[in-house]
Amino acid sequence: MLSVDNLSYSYGAVQALREVRMKMQSGCITCIMGRNGVGKTTLIKTIMGVLRSSAGAVWLGERNVSSLPANKRAKVGLAWVAQGRMIFPKLTVEENLRVGLQARPDKLKNIPDEIYELFPVLKQMSHRMGGDLSGGQQQQLAIGRALAGDPKVLLLDEPTEGIQPNIIQQIGEVLRMLATKRNMTIVLVEQYLDFVRQFGNAFYVMNRGRVVAQGEASELSEELINAHLSV
Ligand SMILES: Nc1ncnc2c1ncn2[C@@H]1O[C@H](COP(=O)(O)OP(=O)(O)O)[C@@H](O)[C@H]1O
Ligand SMILES: [Mg+2]
Repeated sequence: MLSVDNLSYSYGAVQALREVRMKMQSGCITCIMGRNGVGKTTLIKTIMGVLRSSAGAVWLGERNVSSLPANKRAKVGLAWVAQGRMIFPKLTVEENLRVGLQARPDKLKNIPDEIYELFPVLKQMSHRMGGDLSGGQQQQLAIGRALAGDPKVLLLDEPTEGIQPNIIQQIGEVLRMLATKRNMTIVLVEQYLDFVRQFGNAFYVMNRGRVVAQGEASELSEELINAHLSV
């Protein structure tokens, strides 16, 4: 299980996170929702250790990982799929996946078959340049690269943004499988409500750096959506 306790973060004078408290259970998909600019990406980066929180703590199970830099957090089991995918366009699909192997403690040199089983398109395209893939394929590659590190916690920042519906569905099914079959802790920043309703277990809604609502995904009410999510 992952938890954040009173997490705060400021970009200079802009306070982007204010005493955020959340618990993300293993075996569950926890969705982080909220309008643009409310602090979702900052939260994910602070959990990963790419940004260092000014106050508060990040716990992985019983371990306080707050003092670890991002590469050490990757070694203890956190993986991050960044908003906008951030694959390496001039590396092949296979080379992109190899980058993910570096987070593994077991020094495995080959890409696990499981990654290609989850995303067969990556096998078909293993020698193509990352930059030549469609947006949806790049997102699958970004998730595959994160999984190559054999994480316990998978942080995904708007993976469905700008992606064709059939691939959105495939991604949802993979995430559900990773949660239920591998007992992974999945933290999903998501603005696409149908996806949260279909695949999410729990949700948190943020506004101006704070948690303003939380519950089970099945409890996401119209009222809540109108208050915090619709534009
Ligand atoms: N590098 C940055 N420097 C200054 N302010 C930033 C930076 N990144 C984000 N912010 C500000 O922090 C707030 C939260 O941003 P972000 O976490 O990206 O929100 P979200 O992911 O919910 O859209 C916003 O007000 C945004 O303008
Ligand atoms: Mg964001």
